[in-house]
Amino acid sequence: MRDPFAAPLCGPEGLALGAAMEAEGAAQASIAVRTRVIDERLAVAVTLGDAREVVMLGAGLDTRAHRLALGSDVRFVECDFDELLAWKRARLAALGIAAEHVEQRALDLADVDGVGALLGSLGARSRVLVLEGVLAYLSEPQVRALLAAIVRAPGRNRVIADVGGGAWSALFGGRIRAVAARRGAPYRTQLPHARAFFERAGYRVEADVSLVDWDAARSEPRFRIPWSARLVGGVRDVARVIDAEPA
Ligand SMILES: C[S@@+](CC[C@H](N)C(=O)[O-])C[C@H]1O[C@@H](n2cnc3c(N)ncnc32)[C@H](O)[C@@H]1O
Repeated sequence: MRDPFAAPLCGPEGLALGAAMEAEGAAQASIAVRTRVIDERLAVAVTLGDAREVVMLGAGLDTRAHRLALGSDVRFVECDFDELLAWKRARLAALGIAAEHVEQRALDLADVDGVGALLGSLGARSRVLVLEGVLAYLSEPQVRALLAAIVRAPGRNRVIADVGGGAWSALFGGRIRAVAARRGAPYRTQLPHARAFFERAGYRVEADVSLVDWDAARSEPRFRIPWSARLVGGVRDVARVIDAEPA
């Protein structure tokens, strides 16, 4: 996988920040794996399903709208804080990256009424909602309320989300959490039993992918998470990607 937009979009200051965080102990390799797993699940949802709309919740500097060939009729809706979206728009414009099939909507995911209003305004379509690297920034009650708002929303709303928790947190979470907190983005929740959490929230889980297992089985060596070998086959309660639909 190559992301030709990532470096130009985040710029030298973003690359420097990434390098500094890596030096402090944040796990960028695991982020690359998570991104690939979500790409795969999204491709499955769109090409094998009928979804023609992808809603990125907490989109950040995500570039899927530009780098994935999901079909010319697939539109993207990117949601994040207004300030972030304005920065991204300006940056994309400066780079001449066209975005006719991408709409941006300011949204605070902690504002359940706002989430409901957004999904209501999009109508009763079939769509995929992607939550990558986002749920950790909400409290557990906020995650529950967000998942419930999605269940209540019109249309068919498939959710693809990455979650941390369990052994992952116990072994590595402290260091990564400390880096995130120092950088002003503290993690607020972990979901150690993600499948059960989604099921209790009213979802049918299509896929529950362990990033460690996926990495050990599938990655090119340079994406390999260094600690995979120590965990695979043993501890399975690690960071995962959940692909689920309201039951
Ligand atoms: C770690 S970044 C992940 C960005 C992107 N999804 C990705 O994986 O590259 C987390 C993103 O979630 C957004 N975010 C965090 N809390 C949010 C909230 N309450 N409402 C909307 N966006 C939020 C942040 O602004 C940031 O862009």
